[in-house]
Amino acid sequence: MTKDLTQLEILTELEPVAEQNLNRHLSMAKEWHPHDYVPWDQGRNFAALGGVDWAPEQSKLSEVAKVAMITNLLTEDNLPSYHREIAENFSQDGAWGTWVGRWTAEENRHGIVMRDYLVVTRGVDPVALEQARMVHMTNGVHSPEDWGGFLENVAYVTFQELATRVSHRNTGKVCDDPIADRMLQRIAADENLHMIFYRTLCGAGLDLVPDQAMVAITKVLTNFVMPGAGMPNFRRNGVLMAKHGIYDLRQHLEEVVQPVLKKWNIFDRNDFGARGERARDELGAFVAKLERDAARFEEQRDRLLAREAARELASV
Ligand SMILES: [Fe+2]
Ligand SMILES: [Fe+2]
Repeated sequence: MTKDLTQLEILTELEPVAEQNLNRHLSMAKEWHPHDYVPWDQGRNFAALGGVDWAPEQSKLSEVAKVAMITNLLTEDNLPSYHREIAENFSQDGAWGTWVGRWTAEENRHGIVMRDYLVVTRGVDPVALEQARMVHMTNGVHSPEDWGGFLENVAYVTFQELATRVSHRNTGKVCDDPIADRMLQRIAADENLHMIFYRTLCGAGLDLVPDQAMVAITKVLTNFVMPGAGMPNFRRNGVLMAKHGIYDLRQHLEEVVQPVLKKWNIFDRNDFGARGERARDELGAFVAKLERDAARFEEQRDRLLAREAARELASV
């Protein structure tokens, strides 16, 4: 029977790992500049400065690409909320504090470059985008009340960073613009490095306090919602993005959940006590259900897409 460690004890124990991985991150991260990714020559003034305001026909993006871009950008915009969660649950001292600051600064680039791109290319309605940002940021994000602290938060961001990586990459593909694709690939590469930091720290947490960490991971995965939850039209937009393979259950399972669980060796570990075993069993059942749900969703989607294709054919 292992004794539970307090939040402070866990952070203190893991500080050397945080420092080592902060240094690894700094050596791997590439400096890049948002302005290099935006086609400024496509820009022109809006009416307030004597130009023309946005109109739908100016956008070259498909409906799906617009929705995916807006969802991803609003998620990046909510950085102050994510910063608050991380800053409150990680320490402000030493390597932890440096990481929180550095991560926040890197994330801020994502919102900067995506907004510049969308406004300059007139990809989406800038007024509607601004209104949605106001609503979404005013609401903020809040982690569930029973999330204890560091372990839940580090598990959550591990999956979230990987999920946003998948979502950005697939959004780049549907934009049908090599400039957008390049920009979103650049962002996705950042998200991957962030994921590696959090995954390593959560893995170290598992080694340090296996039962406590396992309980936290199960809690987080069985309650996982994409970061866009709470934004205007999130459900409708989430369905549209799933339908077009930007982020769906199969990707969540096979590209996000399973690779991380495998890296942590969850199902082959033998260092759990009764509590950890129970949490692992619960997670195993949850993953099996996710598999069934993903298969059912794909069948429905295939039928829906076939019906739509038949209708289009009939109308030609
Ligand atoms: Fe980001
Ligand atoms: Fe990130």
